[in-house]
Amino acid sequence: MNILKPAAVIGTNSWGSALYEKAIRGSVVDEATIKAAVNKAIECDLLIFDSARDYGFGKGPKMIGELCPEPIVLSSKYTPVTKYKKGQVKESFDKDLKDFKRDKIEIYWLHLPNGIEENLAEIIELYRQGKIEHIGVSNFDLDECKKAKAVLEAAGIPLYGVQNHYSLLDRTWEENGLVEWCMENDISFWAWAVLEEGILAGPARKEEKFSLMKAIFSRRRKKLKKLYALMQKVGERHDISIAQVAIAFVANKGIVPVCGCRKPYQVEELCTAANVKLTEKEMSRLQEASDALHVRILGADMFRFAVSGGNKKK
Ligand SMILES: NC(=O)c1ccc[n+]([C@@H]2O[C@H](COP(=O)([O-])OP(=O)(O)OC[C@H]3O[C@@H](n4cnc5c(N)ncnc54)[C@H](OP(=O)(O)O)[C@@H]3O)[C@@H](O)[C@H]2O)c1
Repeated sequence: MNILKPAAVIGTNSWGSALYEKAIRGSVVDEATIKAAVNKAIECDLLIFDSARDYGFGKGPKMIGELCPEPIVLSSKYTPVTKYKKGQVKESFDKDLKDFKRDKIEIYWLHLPNGIEENLAEIIELYRQGKIEHIGVSNFDLDECKKAKAVLEAAGIPLYGVQNHYSLLDRTWEENGLVEWCMENDISFWAWAVLEEGILAGPARKEEKFSLMKAIFSRRRKKLKKLYALMQKVGERHDISIAQVAIAFVANKGIVPVCGCRKPYQVEELCTAANVKLTEKEMSRLQEASDALHVRILGADMFRFAVSGGNKKK
């Protein structure tokens, strides 16, 4: 696996807390199944697992520490939501190390564009101590990315990546030039929520368990009928599922899909989908079909409410 150009990344935000899993995902997955998913990821060479302190109400990182030995590569984040206080990043980072049972975190992200200079200064210090290998930013707009890149470059460190929302249903960061800027500057663009809370996995099924997210978006989901039909058709041509078409769409853009996986079949599907080559015609038909619907689920600006100061717009 090439850490600079991973085919896909395993998302873990629903790991570790039965309460979170039940509310957000509608079902609790037992530890043995998650462990089987980890083993499948190792077998598939999908070695990067993405986390953050608050995942699974704080239990996600602990579960990673229990279930994810090397060669798994860890990605975690510092989430600046309060006024900057010296040492806050280090404190959170040290908790991560303890939970992960590791002495370093390969990829570390500043989760929100708050206190960019101060928080990056602490991350740079950890990088210099050899505790971080790559530094990225998440939920940053283009100007904020440029600022972060300049701060890092002044310290002689390249910006590794940008981790923002992106899916077949919402290509805001591509439309406003951020994805292109990343490509031009050899900066990896990771897309979170490529399946939009599972809604891009296909129409609602009778056996589907109730979950808060699916309930919130159920009306919008009904409007996706035509898109599902097209995804099904494209999928049949490549022998992949509707969910895999959503993943393949992102991967074929040169974007790294980060997909929430708790089950072995999901890891296997992610691995296959990330390597499927869609034709230009398929890509443009999917894009046109999605644009025509004007349906948004999570949205690129989802976390802008948490950005301090006057810069809340994306
Ligand atoms: N940087 C950020 O601010 C940020 C924000 C949000 C998320 N993230 C990262 O991005 C990751 C992905 O986001 P996410 O987990 O919220 O959403 P997601 O990957 O878009 O969707 C996860 C949902 O898709 C379902 N699913 C996964 N693989 C599937 C498959 N092959 N077929 C059918 N359904 C499938 C899951 O089902 P089950 O319910 O059955 O498991 C789950 O309900 C997170 O885990 C996290 O690491 C980052």
